[in-house]
Amino acid sequence: MSIGRQRQNAIYSAGVFGRTPAVPTDFAELERRAKKAMGQRAWAYIGGGAGEGTTMEANRAAFDRWSIVPRVLRDVSQRNLSVELFGKTLAAPVLFSPVGAGELAQRDSDLLIGAAAAELGVPYILSNQGCSPMEETAAAMEAVREGAPRWFQLYWSTDDALVESLVRRAEECGADALVVTLDTTMLGWRPQDLNLGSLPFARGEGIAQYTSDPRFQQIVTERVAESAGTQAGPRPRVTAAAVAALVSMARHLPGGTWANLRSPIPRASVETFLDIYSRPSLNWDDIAGLCARTSLPVVLKGILHPDDARRAVDLGVDGILVSNHGGRQIDRSVASLDALVDIVDAVRGRAKVLLDSGIRTGADAYIALALGADAVCIGRPHMYGLAIAGQTGAREAVANIIAELDLTLGLSGQTDVADLTREMLRRRD
Ligand SMILES: Cc1cc2nc3c(=O)[nH]c(=O)nc-3n(C[C@H](O)[C@H](O)[C@H](O)COP(=O)(O)O)c2cc1C
Repeated sequence: MSIGRQRQNAIYSAGVFGRTPAVPTDFAELERRAKKAMGQRAWAYIGGGAGEGTTMEANRAAFDRWSIVPRVLRDVSQRNLSVELFGKTLAAPVLFSPVGAGELAQRDSDLLIGAAAAELGVPYILSNQGCSPMEETAAAMEAVREGAPRWFQLYWSTDDALVESLVRRAEECGADALVVTLDTTMLGWRPQDLNLGSLPFARGEGIAQYTSDPRFQQIVTERVAESAGTQAGPRPRVTAAAVAALVSMARHLPGGTWANLRSPIPRASVETFLDIYSRPSLNWDDIAGLCARTSLPVVLKGILHPDDARRAVDLGVDGILVSNHGGRQIDRSVASLDALVDIVDAVRGRAKVLLDSGIRTGADAYIALALGADAVCIGRPHMYGLAIAGQTGAREAVANIIAELDLTLGLSGQTDVADLTREMLRRRD
C-alpha cells in the first residue's frame, strides 16, 4: 500500500479506538499547539523571524501564487516517491532542515529528530548549532536504521582549524554531504529574541558541536590560561538571571555540572563561541578551497540569486539549497519559492537543487518539486512536532507532509515525483 494510504489508514484505524494523531495534521493547528507547549524563550527563537516577519509571510504567499492542475484516468495505483541524492536512495524527496538550539523545544532534540528522520528513511541535516555532538546524533540514527542518511551543516568560523576539524568529524561520522550555510555570516535582526534579551547560545544551548571539538577546547584552554591572573574589569552584579545563565552554561559543558560551576571553562566556552562562530569575510575562494579539501559533496545553503547559483556550479559544488533561512535572517527578502525557477534554469541540471523556507504541506512540496527542486527541506514543522510529542511528533509532522505529497501525486494523475514539471501547475495572478 502507498505511503499516503498507509498513513491515513493508521490514523483512521486508531480513531476507531478513540485515539487521535500525536500531532495535528494541518499546519495552523500544529503551530498553535506547539506554541502552547513551548516556553516564551523557545517560541521566540523557534517561531520567530527577522524584523517584522515579512519574509516569513512572503514564503507562504509565494506558494499561494501556484495551483496544481489535476489530470484524470491515468492509472495511478503504483507511485514512486523515492529519489537518489548523493549516492543514497531516500524514501521521499524530503529532508529535515538543520535546526540549532532545538533543546529549547525538547531535551535531547537532535537525538530525537535524528531518530525520527531515520525511521522515515530521509536525511536529517545535523546543525552546526546542535545540542548533541554530531557523533552522538549519528549513533542515535544508526541505532534506528543502519546507514541512516545524514548530512552535516557547517557555519564557517573565524578559526580555520576549527572549520577543518568540524569537516573531518562530519566525514568520519558518516555524513553524506556537507551543507555550508551562507546566509548567517551574522545573526539577523530578530525582535522576538531581542525583546527578551535571549540568545540560546549565550546560555550554552546549541553549542555542543563546539564544546565537543578538540580544536575548540584547545582555543578555550589557551584563552583561560592567557586571562588567568588578569582582573577583567569590575565584577558583574549577581542577579537571579545571571546565576541561571551560569548554571545553564555549566550544565551544557561536558563533565559534571557541579565541577563545571567551579571552573572558568563554561563561561570561557560561551565567550569564545560568541567571538568565533561566524566569519563575515567568507567568500568564493573559501568555498573553492573547501571543495578541494573534502571528500564530501558540498551543498551551498542560502542561495537566492541565479548568478550566485551559476557561480557555485562553475566552482564545482554539488548542490544548491535555495533558502532564506525560514525568514529568520533578512526581513523583506525574496521568497525562496520565488527564487527557485531562475535558479533551476541557471543550474541546468549540473547540480542538485533543494528548497526550504515555507514548506508546510505535501501540496507545497509538490509545487516546489514541479518547479524544479530535486527535494525539499522542512524546518519549523518538525520542530513543532518535536515540541508537542518528542520523537513521535517530529516523525509524524514530516510523515504527514510525505503522505499528503503521495496522495496529491496520485490524485493529480502523476505516478513519480521525478516526472513533475511546470506544466502540472498554473500561475494564479
Ligand atoms: C529554530 C530554528 C533553528 C535553525 N537553525 C539553523 C541552523 O543551525 N543552521 C541552518 O543552516 N539553518 C537553521 N535554521 C533554518 C532552517 O535550516 C531552514 O532553513 C528553515 O527553518 C526553513 O524554513 P521553515 O522553517 O519555514 O520550514 C533554523 C531554523 C529554525 C526554525
